[in-house]
Amino acid sequence: MYGDRLPWHRRVQFEAAHQILRSFHQLVNRLPFWEHGLGTPTVTRIQCRHSPLAGRRAVQISDLHLDRYLPRHDTILRRIGGLRPDWIFVTGDLLDSASGIPHLLRFLSRLRQLAPVFLTLGNHDHHSGVPVGLLAALADSHKLQLLVNQAVFVPLASGELGIIGLDDPSTHRADRRCIPPRVAGRFTVLLAHAPNVLDLLEARDAVDLILCGHSHGGQWRFPSIRPFWLPYGCRGRAEGHYIQNGHRLYINRGLGWSFLPIRWNCPPEIVLIEWVEAKPSRSRPKRNPA
Ligand SMILES: [Fe+2]
Repeated sequence: MYGDRLPWHRRVQFEAAHQILRSFHQLVNRLPFWEHGLGTPTVTRIQCRHSPLAGRRAVQISDLHLDRYLPRHDTILRRIGGLRPDWIFVTGDLLDSASGIPHLLRFLSRLRQLAPVFLTLGNHDHHSGVPVGLLAALADSHKLQLLVNQAVFVPLASGELGIIGLDDPSTHRADRRCIPPRVAGRFTVLLAHAPNVLDLLEARDAVDLILCGHSHGGQWRFPSIRPFWLPYGCRGRAEGHYIQNGHRLYINRGLGWSFLPIRWNCPPEIVLIEWVEAKPSRSRPKRNPA
């Protein structure tokens, strides 16, 4: 169930924490509509240089925790539709319990009408009580691509887009052996739920952009103070850009909530990736013949 490197005390800690959280989420989801700070997602633009993909765009969303479908989910869909993505990436924590399946599928089916959808799993998906096999079958029947330590390739007129989906790094399920070797003309996006994926990768891994979530941006933020809550697997990384070993990571604050349906000074986020032409390589000045 967990990766081999997860110590036993962490397993006990995760199981206990998720049992409590799952019951709590189910309880809150029975209450009448009550949320704060989850209504209007901001849109963050990321630019990537790769000529075969110039003019193409993708949207990344994360941490849906979609156990009940609310009006704000229609707002999110409208917002994403307005961005006209060619592909949509969802980096885990899709739901918290099995009762969320019809709500999640309602959202994802509508998302699929906008563009092809690629999904990875987060820690909450694994602790939801929904078997991964069932999630994979549901994804299949709804024409969604669930990637669990898998890679797919989208051919382009010249070159291709590689999309790798790692299983959840925060529970040590990610297996970097699924990362294919570098190929000329390919741009590779790696989707993984938690920011500690950056510590798993080696400099030689052929990855151009890593997208993840998990942190919720800290969820409750106060001016001039570092986030006081970040889940295991963030290693102090809360949101935005990070570079390590030559790998570029972006952490999305996500769209949902943990513990309480409140986000404070930490709005939900949609990330738009836009590809532009690569910079022309500088040719060496010619030497004058002697
Ligand atoms: Fe989450």
